Amino acid sequence: DAGKGEYDHYMRKEIDSQPTALANTIEGRIDGDDVVFENLPPGSFEEIETVQFVACGTSYHAAMYGGQQLREAGVRTEILRATEYGATSGPVDERTLVVAVTQSGETADTLDAVRRATDQGARSLAVTNVVGSTAAREADEAVYIRAGPEVGVAATKTYSSQSVTLALLTQRIAADVPDATPVADRAEMLESLTALPDHLETVLETSQAETLAREYLDSESYFFIGNGLGHSVALEGALKFKEITYEHAEGFSSGELKHGPLALVTEESPIFAVSTGSNDEKTKTNAIEARSRGAPIVAVGPENAPLADVTETQLSVPDTHPVWAGLLANVQLQLLSYHAAELRDRPIDKPRNLAKSVTVE
Ligand code: G6P
Repeated sequence: DAGKGEYDHYMRKEIDSQPTALANTIEGRIDGDDVVFENLPPGSFEEIETVQFVACGTSYHAAMYGGQQLREAGVRTEILRATEYGATSGPVDERTLVVAVTQSGETADTLDAVRRATDQGARSLAVTNVVGSTAAREADEAVYIRAGPEVGVAATKTYSSQSVTLALLTQRIAADVPDATPVADRAEMLESLTALPDHLETVLETSQAETLAREYLDSESYFFIGNGLGHSVALEGALKFKEITYEHAEGFSSGELKHGPLALVTEESPIFAVSTGSNDEKTKTNAIEARSRGAPIVAVGPENAPLADVTETQLSVPDTHPVWAGLLANVQLQLLSYHAAELRDRPIDKPRNLAKSVTVE
């Protein structure tokens, strides 16, 4: 269904379609405690020593999410903004796999980064939503996120499907790369992934994001913090918020807050603190610091995460493996941005100055 149906905005329709989109993303890709990509059989990555992720915007945040998991599995990993590829890439050769993360498959900056890497002999893989896109055609291999078409300029369901695809791809790569150590609790992680569409449904049905969007409507700034996997979720939360509300929003790694941004923290700057249920201590400590400066703190994550003690205000998500909790937290933040933009009567599906796909550098 290409229309908006009963919805006022495509963005809201796309947020609500995430349980189905994710079920499609996952379908056929888990076999017991193995991950299956038909075109990438076991052994596909035996020659690879370094993996580079290149991406822009929301796709960069999904790349952070996947790349961090690959690094944790002991694979040498670089996560690079495609716009800064020339300045930030280490040397590449045929033992480098460059993974282009691009919803549209047409982002000029991302295509340019991949071409630079492949010119030096790197192997390339596109993770994209669009079959037949330039990235899919030019890369040595393509993996599709299967989220279905996305119309809203602000990416929502494609971020979730990209992140899940990358988490699975990470396990596939780590199984091949010599000396890598795929996560110890892989079976448990994959099993909880099969429950993710249901957990997402719960978030969509129970979210208090609209109430909070209203409560903080007149704030000066909106800050998002998190560490580890929660860091990328915080960055994505802030990007979405600024894209569609036009308010000042910033995302930080929790520990960075005290290295400068704390100067901006007042009673007028709510802080959305993302937890995943793992490594949340830094986020808790820094949230306490911000609270002592008067900032309202909203804990975004599992109800029993340590952050919940810091505040009475929560956007909670069902208990799950920490790898998926961040994605559920992100859906809460999508809803927060959506309602905040709706209350301000913004053109949610077509924010000023932005395009769905940017084909110039
Ligand atoms: C544009 C869009 C963003 C998107 C980025 C990367 O800037 O406005 O929402 O995240 O491009 O797009 P891609 O298609 O490469 O994922």
